[in-house]
Amino acid sequence: MRIVLVGPPGAGKGTQAAFLAENLSIPHISTGDLFRANISQQTELGKLAKSYMDAGNLVPDEVTIAMAKDRMEQPDAEHGFLLDGFPRNVSQAQALDETLKTDGMKLDAVLDLEVPEDEVVKRIAGRRVCRNESAHVFHVSYKPPKQEGVCDVCGGELYQRDDDSEDTVRKRLEVYHTQTEPIIDYYKAQGLVITISALGKVDEVTGRAMEALSQKT
Ligand code: AP5
Ligand code: ZN
Repeated sequence: MRIVLVGPPGAGKGTQAAFLAENLSIPHISTGDLFRANISQQTELGKLAKSYMDAGNLVPDEVTIAMAKDRMEQPDAEHGFLLDGFPRNVSQAQALDETLKTDGMKLDAVLDLEVPEDEVVKRIAGRRVCRNESAHVFHVSYKPPKQEGVCDVCGGELYQRDDDSEDTVRKRLEVYHTQTEPIIDYYKAQGLVITISALGKVDEVTGRAMEALSQKT
């Protein structure tokens, strides 16, 4: 399956993507994670991306599309993928459509995670991420690590993302509403959107998502 996951910052896209990708045996492709890996490896792309991410803005389309395309061309993505955080505006969505069309492929579903803004703010404020692996995500109240500040999975140090400060979160939410939400209408016109509530326990949301996706196959 080829799926796009969309939802506001802190909706739980990364958390759900990990379970869904495993259940569906497809790779989880997160442009946010790819940028963070570039930042920690201090690549030129990482240096460029960091300035935009820290301000809560989108990284320019040209570099983002090229990076996402490159990842989707890896052998493990040949039979499907779960995109998390990409596309993030209509021009990225159009570029994705073009790329897929050229390869004779198309999307199967766009899963839209709906969460009220006050919950999103709580989720982001308490989020802690592992320095070794950005897919190792915790929450001080909802998913506390066994030992404070230490990743349960690999023992790495847990930290608060630079873009999780209050001001940057406000900016990211504004960018979501103005630039990313329009892709929902873009994909609705293609009959691809399934909207589910992302409230409740993580496994309840995964169950809801699996149920919704099963109707698209
Ligand atoms: P990105 O990394 O994609 O960030 P985001 O979309 O803002 O999403 P988050 O990672 O903040 O949240 P999430 O929905 O994955 O939530 P999570 O699962 O962690 O992008 C960051 C930046 O990179 C962008 O601002 C931009 O600058 C740049 N970028 C990335 N892609 C781009 C693109 N395509 N174009 C241009 N720029 C791009 O969950 C949040 C917290 O809640 C966690 O602590 C988790 O444990 C907890 N939680 C999850 N589910 C539940 C639940 N059901 N109940 C209770 N707690 C929960
Ligand atoms: Zn870890």
